[in-house]
Amino acid sequence: MSVASLSDFLLQRVTRAGASRTGKRAASSSNLTQLQQLPMNRQIYQLIREAILAQTLPVGLQLPSSRDLATELGMSRNTVTFAYEQLLAEGYLETRAGAGTFVADTAPDQIPESIERNTPLTDPSGKSELSARGAMLVRKAGVSDKQWGAFMPGVPDVTQFPHKVWSRLQNKYWRGNRSDMLTYGPGAGYAALREEIAEYLRLARSVNCNASQILITNGIHQSLDTVVKLLGEHGDSAWVEDPCYWGTRSVLNSLGIDTVPIPVDQEGMRMRLANLRRPPRFICTTPSHQYPLGMVMSLSRRRMLLEYAATHKVWIIEDDYDSEFRYGGRPLASLQGMDIHNRVLYMGTFSKIMFPGLRIGFLVVPESLAEAFGTGLAELYRSGQVFLQAALADFMAEGHFSSHIRKMRVLYAERLQILLQAIEHHFGNKLTITGGEAGLHLTLLLPPHCNDKLICEEARQRGIIVRPLSTYYMSPKSARCGLLLGYASVPSDEIATAFGKLAGVIKKHLD
Ligand SMILES: Cc1ncc(COP(=O)(O)O)c(C=O)c1O
Repeated sequence: MSVASLSDFLLQRVTRAGASRTGKRAASSSNLTQLQQLPMNRQIYQLIREAILAQTLPVGLQLPSSRDLATELGMSRNTVTFAYEQLLAEGYLETRAGAGTFVADTAPDQIPESIERNTPLTDPSGKSELSARGAMLVRKAGVSDKQWGAFMPGVPDVTQFPHKVWSRLQNKYWRGNRSDMLTYGPGAGYAALREEIAEYLRLARSVNCNASQILITNGIHQSLDTVVKLLGEHGDSAWVEDPCYWGTRSVLNSLGIDTVPIPVDQEGMRMRLANLRRPPRFICTTPSHQYPLGMVMSLSRRRMLLEYAATHKVWIIEDDYDSEFRYGGRPLASLQGMDIHNRVLYMGTFSKIMFPGLRIGFLVVPESLAEAFGTGLAELYRSGQVFLQAALADFMAEGHFSSHIRKMRVLYAERLQILLQAIEHHFGNKLTITGGEAGLHLTLLLPPHCNDKLICEEARQRGIIVRPLSTYYMSPKSARCGLLLGYASVPSDEIATAFGKLAGVIKKHLD
């Protein structure tokens, strides 16, 4: 029997009045196709349930006995009994002792008279169902659906990750069947990992910290979110670099923080007098490697920021997302390490060194805030994935972390050189390159008459992913035209060909 005829039959049989009277079915036609896929007992259950919800079967109506219905349908009684029992359990049907099975009263509770019943609480078009900040978040979203391919910025070469070592370490914790690996994690994170991170940060980034100040998060987005929730109020302001990482802007705005764009020059953030007169609650900065332009904040600018933060009780949020990859000279020390007034919150991530899908990052807070942050983090997010944190702690302790950084630094430096040569080959020194000394991407500046968004669209049609620099700016007036090119994840022997395709698109727009 097809679902449509089952639907008609059920309705006729159950109401005894005949479906043709109303022309209704027990299920809408769009649902009939979906129903067809289900086992017969689920079909009967769904058809009766929908008819009750649509009030086609009125409250109090008696249903035929499961035995009768099964006989008439030519099915086993179990099939019908299953459907009835499910409907009874969910409250759509009720049994009356000795009398049979009836449609139960499932009318919705009354909405108080004081609320107008006919006024929809939301716009049925769906558009305005988002809050103002939700709508802004979606409208200005910077996140990309593509995460792999030449020249996707910010992506490490995950194919080079030592999978075997990692799976050995992870298996060790799985094999143990340990309850502490599978329950919620400690608020601030797995102790051994916090120790490893503290040691690494002290040595490699001159961060002034001990393990108690380290909090494990699921990345920089969550670290920033936590800092702002615990130290900020709705309506506070934050200075952000202009241009900046889209994630910073989105997280801040979604928490009701007013973002104030601060232009950057060769020395980093350049505040105007008008800015300095109005101290913000937060200063968000990428001093070791400005994102996305790549400059390093000068010592004098760093000292000025720290002094200003101490005087005006401002929190500096330092995003140190990729400093491990510096291809000339020693990596620069962190801003946090220069701070003697405890005004810096330092954020780091394993996304670039390990792999982005790991979703582990860390936050370093002043000692006086450490306990509160541990509680706050657990209260907000109930941390977990302890087995990953444990494996990562071993990965660091056994030296794989440092050797992976060393290996990748050599590989990325080689890829950077190949890309620089390809750029020179096609454009000589006609185009300016910024940020080519560190990180996983560089920025190719284009003349102001170019439309970088259009170039990116055309490149995408040729299978090349690049991101338009202008979209990273908050103030349209200062927006520069250019392209962000990630080279780290592109195999060395594919860089020249891929760039050749991109160069073809760029040349068309330069003329
Ligand atoms: C400046 C900057 N901060 C933060 C992140 C993201 O870090 P996470 O993956 O830990 O959220 C990125 C990623 O590209 C970035 O470029």
